[in-house]
Amino acid sequence: MFPIQKMLCRMRTCANQKFAAQAAALGAAPRKEALGKGRKAVELQEQYMLRALELADRGLGRTAPNPLVGCVIVKAGRIIGEGWHEQLGGLHAERNALASCRESPAGAQMYVTLEPCCHYGRTPPCTEAILEAGIREVYIGCMDPNPLVGGKGAAILREHGVRVTENVCGEECRKANEVFFHYIQNRTPFVAMKFAMTLDGKIAAYTGDSRWVTGEEARRDAHELRKRYAGILVGIGTVLADDPMLNCRIEEGVDPVRIVCDSRLRLPLKSRLVQTARQIPVIAAGVRSKDPGYIRRREALRAAGVDVTEFEEEEEVPLGRLMEALGKREIDSVLLEGGGRLNESALREGIVRKVYAYIAPKIVGGGTAPTPVGGEGAARMAQARQLADLSVSRLGDDIRMTGYICRDQLRRTE
Ligand SMILES: NC(=O)c1ccc[n+]([C@@H]2O[C@H](COP(=O)([O-])OP(=O)(O)OC[C@H]3O[C@@H](n4cnc5c(N)ncnc54)[C@H](OP(=O)(O)O)[C@@H]3O)[C@@H](O)[C@H]2O)c1
Repeated sequence: MFPIQKMLCRMRTCANQKFAAQAAALGAAPRKEALGKGRKAVELQEQYMLRALELADRGLGRTAPNPLVGCVIVKAGRIIGEGWHEQLGGLHAERNALASCRESPAGAQMYVTLEPCCHYGRTPPCTEAILEAGIREVYIGCMDPNPLVGGKGAAILREHGVRVTENVCGEECRKANEVFFHYIQNRTPFVAMKFAMTLDGKIAAYTGDSRWVTGEEARRDAHELRKRYAGILVGIGTVLADDPMLNCRIEEGVDPVRIVCDSRLRLPLKSRLVQTARQIPVIAAGVRSKDPGYIRRREALRAAGVDVTEFEEEEEVPLGRLMEALGKREIDSVLLEGGGRLNESALREGIVRKVYAYIAPKIVGGGTAPTPVGGEGAARMAQARQLADLSVSRLGDDIRMTGYICRDQLRRTE
């Protein structure tokens, strides 16, 4: 979960540290009351930006491959308009916020989580709308990594006399759009690996039984995650063992595209994935073969509504190329849900950026019970992949640990 209160608390500490650092950089000890005023102003700016971030989240699952953006318009210390980017092709957050204003936005401040665009894309430039509305000050969360914008939006506003402040809650805003930042720069999906394991590191009992590793709260949280990703990826081993639906079972959730790595197209026609393929898309990634059985299975899957994507001359599905193919279809993010064999390949291929590990206070034991990452594993602890930028939260009796694979370890195979 992403509780805004927690963020606010962190931001307050941050705001105070930032202010102290700014004051120190000026080389003077500012007067006490000036320090108080400045800190209050910074805190206020950050609170408006956090509200904008909260609004941005309402577009979850509907804007891909566009970013999540929220916007708040403030006049005389009151919020007079709010908006967010609601869906791909729809109006941008700034235009929605301007349209919602209860009074004239002339002379107002705008808080927007991402730099306003200045080019004609699916909609006209937001900088035009801001200038037409007479906005006096714009506070930007983070700059747009899109080379079509990349600082130009802010520059145009400044040229027209608008006061622009960048990097308000910059870290939070960049993180909220980590998928967009990755996709715009790489054109492949941002991949996050998610697994649930017992305290002794098992994802199922030695019999294969895996229902359930974690409790209700953690499972609900995992469904919240599915809302954040455009695609969900599993290996055929998991489909054969669990016959999963891989949908998003929460209110207002958006189902991700379901993708199965299945070189030989063993995906059963009776599986829940295939049975629901016409309602929620399923992509079966296979390796092209001349084998008549393979061809028969491929045609049957296609007739059932499954999108079969084939790769040539490979032993198993080449994950790097699969990511390129998904990127071309504007699938900007993928939640990798295992099992252990696929997780190991994905780490080895260097496609995983983020990890969500749910850990249950249970000990199931068993030398042959599966673990989240299979394969031979590292020979020495020093070769283990290290996660950075960690966060830990408690969900009922379980905990969730989230972290990022260190950049220099993305392709660590030695
Ligand atoms: N607790 C959890 O979080 C969790 C999550 C998921 C799964 N599980 C459990 O994990 C078990 C299944 O795991 P698993 O390791 O047996 O199977 P898996 O990782 O789900 O699937 C592996 C299979 O995927 C296919 N594949 C195609 N391309 C691949 C590639 N590039 N790399 C790796 N595999 C590729 C291979 O079959 P082909 O050669 O036929 O293509 C391979 O045998 C089940 O018991 C399930 O319940 C637990």
